[in-house]
Amino acid sequence: MDNFILVTGAGRRVGFHLASRLHQDGYHVLAHYRSATEDVQRLQQSGIETIQADLHDAASILEFVCRLKQYSKTYRAIVHNASAFTPTAENLTEAAAQYQHFFTIHMLAPYLINQGLAAQLAGNGDSPADIVHITDINVENPTPRFDIYGTTKAGLQNMTVALAKKLAPAIKVNAVAPGPVLFTSLHSEETKAQMLSETPLAREGGAEPVYLAVKSLLENPFVTGATIPVDGGRRLSKA
Ligand SMILES: NC(=O)c1ccc[n+]([C@@H]2O[C@H](COP(=O)([O-])OP(=O)(O)OC[C@H]3O[C@@H](n4cnc5c(N)ncnc54)[C@H](OP(=O)(O)O)[C@@H]3O)[C@@H](O)[C@H]2O)c1
Repeated sequence: MDNFILVTGAGRRVGFHLASRLHQDGYHVLAHYRSATEDVQRLQQSGIETIQADLHDAASILEFVCRLKQYSKTYRAIVHNASAFTPTAENLTEAAAQYQHFFTIHMLAPYLINQGLAAQLAGNGDSPADIVHITDINVENPTPRFDIYGTTKAGLQNMTVALAKKLAPAIKVNAVAPGPVLFTSLHSEETKAQMLSETPLAREGGAEPVYLAVKSLLENPFVTGATIPVDGGRRLSKA
C-alpha cells in the first residue's frame, strides 16, 4: 500500500485521535510513535500501520527519513504533531538541553522529514499533496513561563510559510494552531479555570476540532501558507 498520511506522535492524545479519525475517513495512515502505549496497540488492532522512532537528534531523524522513503513509494500528506511541552527550566544548563530537545522535535524533525520526503509527496489529480504543522496559538501571544516551547513552535510556524513558498505548486503547507484542546497534568485546577475564563467558547475543545481543521486542509486544494486557530477564541482574549 502507498499514498500514506504520516502522522507523527500518534501514540497518545491528539495524535492518536488524528490517526484514528483519518483511518475512519478512509485515508491510508502510517502512525508514528515513540513509546509503545495501549493507544498504539489500539491503532494496530484497527488496522493502522505504525512505525516507531525516537526523534532525538539529527542522526535519528535522518535514519527515520530513510526508513520512510523505503516504507512507501508515495505519501499523500504529513501531519507533524509530535511535540514536547514543559515549562522553561530555571537552571541554564537544563534550559540549554531543553532548547536542544524542543528545537529538535518542533523544528529539525519537521524540516528534515519534509525535505526528505518532498519528492515522494504526491497529490491527487488537481489537488496538491499536504504538509500540516500542528503549532500553538501561543506562537502569536507567548506565555513567558513556556518560552522555550513557544519560540521553537514559532520556528515551526515560520517554516510553514517558508515551505509553502518553496514547495508549491506540488505541495500545500499549512498549520493548525490549537489552544486549550486537551489539558495535561501540568495544568492545575486554577490554571485550567483561568484559561477557560480567557476562552470565549469557555470549554476544553477536545481533539476532534483539531481533526476537523486538519481534514478541511486536506480537502481544500487552494489553501497554502495558512494557519487555522483551533482555540475557542482564546487568542482574542488571552492576557
Ligand atoms: N493539548 C493541547 O491543549 C494543545 C494546545 C496547544 C497546542 N497543542 C499541540 O498539539 C499537538 C498535540 O498535543 P498533545 O497534547 O496531544 O501532545 P502530547 O500529549 O505532548 O503528545 C506529544 C507526542 O509527541 C511524541 N514525542 C515527543 N517527543 C518525541 C520524540 N523525541 N520523538 C518522537 N516522538 C516524540 C510523544 O511521544 P511519547 O508518548 O513517547 O512521549 C507524544 O506521542 C502538539 O503538537 C502540541 O504542541 C496541544
